[in-house]
Amino acid sequence: MIDIHTHVLAGVDDGPTNIKESIDILKELISQGVEEIIATPHIISGVYDNNRKIIDEKIEELNSEITTHNLPIKIHKGAELYYEPNIIEKTKKEKLSLAGSKYILIETDLHRFPNNFEKVLYQFQVEGFFPIIAHAERFIPFINNFNLLLDIVNRGILVQINSGSLFGDYGDNVQKLAHKILKTGCVHFIASDVHGIKKRPILLEEVYKFLSENFNENLAKLLMEENPKNLIQNEEIENMLENYYVEDESKQTFIERIRNFFRI
Ligand SMILES: [Fe+2]
Repeated sequence: MIDIHTHVLAGVDDGPTNIKESIDILKELISQGVEEIIATPHIISGVYDNNRKIIDEKIEELNSEITTHNLPIKIHKGAELYYEPNIIEKTKKEKLSLAGSKYILIETDLHRFPNNFEKVLYQFQVEGFFPIIAHAERFIPFINNFNLLLDIVNRGILVQINSGSLFGDYGDNVQKLAHKILKTGCVHFIASDVHGIKKRPILLEEVYKFLSENFNENLAKLLMEENPKNLIQNEEIENMLENYYVEDESKQTFIERIRNFFRI
């Protein structure tokens, strides 16, 4: 698997505070079957003022530990951008896209949708970027108005959801929306958004199993292997994913049971 949203660099955000914690996270990711990750430290002006130079140095430091510990994992450079008016200029200047591709990972206030957020997403597209909304299921405006998310996806914006959301790590409403996003095919990536092994379980292996058993294995592969791989190679990603959903009626009945179990 390839995990496109991780906080593994030490001392740059609310992720690990030292390199030992970083290594512990990497070992856990490896044990779940992850072979490559994108390190996506927060970029929030005045809170986490990370830039290209800091990220490069931290990745170099982590890579030398990976070599020392002989860990079978590859780290790509990235960032989790927080919406702010000058975010496009900053992204271009500091080269803050994911793995050097045209894909960017962006979040905003979980409680409200800034007026200019959609405009900035569109501007990113005009500039040739492919924006991915980080943990879309956690945004209260989407919880309150699913059409807002559908609208954005229809305009070519990509969606990432957190593995833990599908199992209720962020509460019932987030879990419910995560499953709705999944069943409607408005999702392109599932990632851990890991901050530390003691903070929240990573659950990527569990999600892969859940998708394989309740949807189909191709969907698990698509969201956790193929789309991330295409991203890293800067190739295009299919926007609407209806083809991956099960048509068979008996299977749908089973999925309905699962949905009822999760109250979605
Ligand atoms: Fe994150």
